[in-house]
Amino acid sequence: MALPGNDPHPPATRRRRPRTRWAWLVVPLVLVVVAGCSVAVGGGLLLFRVWAPVSTVGTLDFANPLRVPPLAASTVDPDGTRVFALELQAGSTSFRPGPATATWGYDGSYLSPTLRAERGERVRVDVTNGVDQPTTMHWHGMHLPPSQDGGPHQPIEPGATRSPAWTVDQPAATLWFHPHPHEATGEQVQRGAAGMFLVDDPAATDRLGLPTTYGVDDVPVIVQDRTFDDDNQFGSREPLFGQMGPLGDQLLVNGTWNPHLDVGTERVRLRLLNASNARLYNFTFSDHRRFALVGTDGGLLEGPVTLDAVQLSPGERAEVVVDVAPNDRVVLRSEHVDLHGTSGDDGRFAGILDAFDVLELRAASALQPSAPLAPALATIDRPTAVPSGTTRTFRLDNNRINGQQMAMERVDEVVQAGSTEVWAITNEHNLPHSFHPHLTSFLVLDVDGTAPPRELSGWKDTVYVPPGSTIRIAIRFEDWGEPTSPSMFHCHILRHEDSGMMGQFVVVPPGGSAPGEVGHDGHAGG
Ligand code: C2O
Ligand code: CU
Ligand code: CU
Repeated sequence: MALPGNDPHPPATRRRRPRTRWAWLVVPLVLVVVAGCSVAVGGGLLLFRVWAPVSTVGTLDFANPLRVPPLAASTVDPDGTRVFALELQAGSTSFRPGPATATWGYDGSYLSPTLRAERGERVRVDVTNGVDQPTTMHWHGMHLPPSQDGGPHQPIEPGATRSPAWTVDQPAATLWFHPHPHEATGEQVQRGAAGMFLVDDPAATDRLGLPTTYGVDDVPVIVQDRTFDDDNQFGSREPLFGQMGPLGDQLLVNGTWNPHLDVGTERVRLRLLNASNARLYNFTFSDHRRFALVGTDGGLLEGPVTLDAVQLSPGERAEVVVDVAPNDRVVLRSEHVDLHGTSGDDGRFAGILDAFDVLELRAASALQPSAPLAPALATIDRPTAVPSGTTRTFRLDNNRINGQQMAMERVDEVVQAGSTEVWAITNEHNLPHSFHPHLTSFLVLDVDGTAPPRELSGWKDTVYVPPGSTIRIAIRFEDWGEPTSPSMFHCHILRHEDSGMMGQFVVVPPGGSAPGEVGHDGHAGG
């Protein structure tokens, strides 16, 4: 900044000139300008430093009954295929007092009915795009042919319908679905396009004592953070100069603001899904009561793991079973996230100090008895040694993986069907990142060379990778040899994904090779 009227020479070394009359005006003016600038710059810095952590703890009265997404209706075709239909629609939703919020949803104004199918069933979902921009429908965590997976190569144009179909063949799990259009996933998910897909496997899970009555003692808990502007529209609150994308200061659970859940049984199973764009949660109860973690992304754990907190990054799921006593009022909270290695301003701006009241559980005065949980829940076919197949490394950095940004025509990795590989994922950046491969689930082998914590002992499809850490996973590719249909791997912080932090792999038959280029599988209606 130029400071007119300032004389660089110290007074002692120069000859004094008589002060002219205008100096009496200019000197104070300069001082005022300098002072003003310092206040602005200093104030800005101060604002940067003290970006106040958000806390809704203790501020809610949980007046609204938790909305439970209805189970989607389906029909069964003569060939036995279970057929669902979903239409993505624009609408408006009343979350809070005041004007309704413009939102998107499937067969409704926000989120979606829950899809549910059994292992072994063939399913088809007729997905219609009723909004005015291209979308896709991605089945997060589903094992299915890449051409049915709804990544960015399978757009559905406005007005068109695409009908992915596959046979469900994987353990019982809490999966979900959301759009995946190139560079626009974050925006569409934030508007409300997302839903849950429950895979059942009664033969394997019927006698485990797990609560199974949907919406009663087996409840979806889809957690999303949002900001509301003065007109109650979704706003964007983006600390850290937009590097994480939106971090809201209010929570919606299944699209319910300020929610409570009436519990009439001794035990309730909560299927937690972090469907937020960027925020990590550390779920715990207000009285720090312990609960049983029974499942993660890809299915049940080998046995219940007793915890008092479970952390979920965007896209991750946890199934927890919690005991309540008659008349209990206990609040599911998210408290101080531990990013392991992200601290100071990076951590603050990634929201680690933020705290939220999520959902109040209100137990009835007389509770129906619940069965005890079985000590063994699932058998996990875990490699006894580190698989000897191909090892690949993935370096996560600022909107890049292995130094490259997503390119639709480039295949980054070629994998042989039927193989189990080791993928080593390192976060070389100072911000939180995660890793999510499509198409299959994986087991965590180690975190920085040591055995994973028990909450990472089951099937996963999305894993948080702390700054500076390396996570090695064993990842198995079944027989989906569709070499021209690439699958994605990416960071599930949606701003990062949309900014190019994504790559593509193809699965080729054993001994096969990959095409040089891959293209669209054809536009539905395009
Ligand atoms: Cu949930 Cu590729 O995404
Ligand atoms: Cu996915
Ligand atoms: Cu990231």
